Amino acid sequence: MPSDNESSLARNQFPANFVWGAATAAYQIEGAVNEDGRSPSIWDVFSHTPGKTHQGNTGDIAADHYHRFMEDIALMEKLGLNGYRFSISWPRIIPEGRGTINQKGLDFYDRLVDELLAKGIDPYVTLYHWDLPQVLQDKGGWKERATSEYFVGYADAVTRRLGDRVKAWITLNEPWVSAVTGYITGEHAPGETDILAGVKAGHHLLLAHGMALPVIRLNMSRPDAEVGITLSTTFVEPGDDSTEAKDLALLVDVISNRLFLEPLFKGHYPKELPENFFMPMVPLEPGDLEIISQPMDFLGMNYYFRTLPLNVEDFSTYKIRQYRPPEAQFTALDWEVYPQGLYRLLKRVHEEYFPGKMYITENGAAFKDVLEDSEAGPVVHDPERKNYIIQHLRAAHQAIEEGVPLAGYFVWTLYDNFEWALGNEARFGLVYLDYPTQRRIFKDSGKWYSKFLQK
Ligand code: FCB
Repeated sequence: MPSDNESSLARNQFPANFVWGAATAAYQIEGAVNEDGRSPSIWDVFSHTPGKTHQGNTGDIAADHYHRFMEDIALMEKLGLNGYRFSISWPRIIPEGRGTINQKGLDFYDRLVDELLAKGIDPYVTLYHWDLPQVLQDKGGWKERATSEYFVGYADAVTRRLGDRVKAWITLNEPWVSAVTGYITGEHAPGETDILAGVKAGHHLLLAHGMALPVIRLNMSRPDAEVGITLSTTFVEPGDDSTEAKDLALLVDVISNRLFLEPLFKGHYPKELPENFFMPMVPLEPGDLEIISQPMDFLGMNYYFRTLPLNVEDFSTYKIRQYRPPEAQFTALDWEVYPQGLYRLLKRVHEEYFPGKMYITENGAAFKDVLEDSEAGPVVHDPERKNYIIQHLRAAHQAIEEGVPLAGYFVWTLYDNFEWALGNEARFGLVYLDYPTQRRIFKDSGKWYSKFLQK
């Protein structure tokens, strides 16, 4: 097991106003799926469909956060966070997807935001983290342009109510994952398997982001408020020296990273995409790219691993064979631990797209955690997770030293939760969640993070 010298890393090496956070998402933690007027989302339907999630796990209860948010904010306070990134559930706010606003849904987030602020923790709010109201999916979901318009109505309702207190608005979480795994590979809700559907969904997600931006700006009244988006990123290098691997690495980089970066920051889709294959599928209307590429205040980047493509196994499901470096460390999900990729990506995105301000809105790792008894009570020894975080913070620090305007870092995630198709099996938390009892138990990594933040 690689060890890491934690003593050479200190909080005060980072800018004084740096945001130290943890991130979660509504469907992964809230539970209470039938309460206070919430309607089903695509994830309720998907997770209740046999065979779609690990052992049929669902988010019906998850971390029961809807009922335990006070206790959870106490955890954040113990950790010493000054920022918390969470998402809002669209089907709680507008159960019909469009139209009538459910005040009880808004009331919950109102209380959450007030309690966070009372504890000195700034709310970083994601409007869409994958839980589309099922009623909208029944009408075609993100394949339809109308869904982008309904998103604006939803964003308006939320930002009107919370815009005076929320520090940062993130329109969408990882639209790439929504479009590709939701509509092309079918691994995520709504489980469609059609390239055309995925391309349409991707465009309408971008459009939803762009259309909502001016509305959010109008409603956000906290003097230091900001608005941006969160993208998934991976550091791509050829798996070997062959021309096939080199060409494929370029294409994977275009598809995995630049597909969303270019329209957002340059106002066009990547020129490298096969002209007569990709563009004809995009439901582009005049003016769309101007809407999509309006300036934002920050870019949120999620980073977990490197990708080393060798060759294509099945392009229709985006299955790529990868090289597996024998000396590398892998997480429980077989994701390569490669902190240098974070540094390289931060530098590159800063230099090529110049977002002005950046946050790492997610970074973390799943390992096989074991709850053990000790004289002092239950413990979880997770040195790999602690090392993962330290190594990535060091990479982030190096980027800052070299001029990257990185303003914050959010660990994925606060506590173990419903990890989408992987169910409750993949544990990413700083805090262990004992599902049968709902007990929250600090892992060693969580104890370390809180010590690190106190210095
Ligand atoms: C990201 C998601 C987040 C979680 C982590 C592990 O892609 O945004 O909800 O699933 O991966």
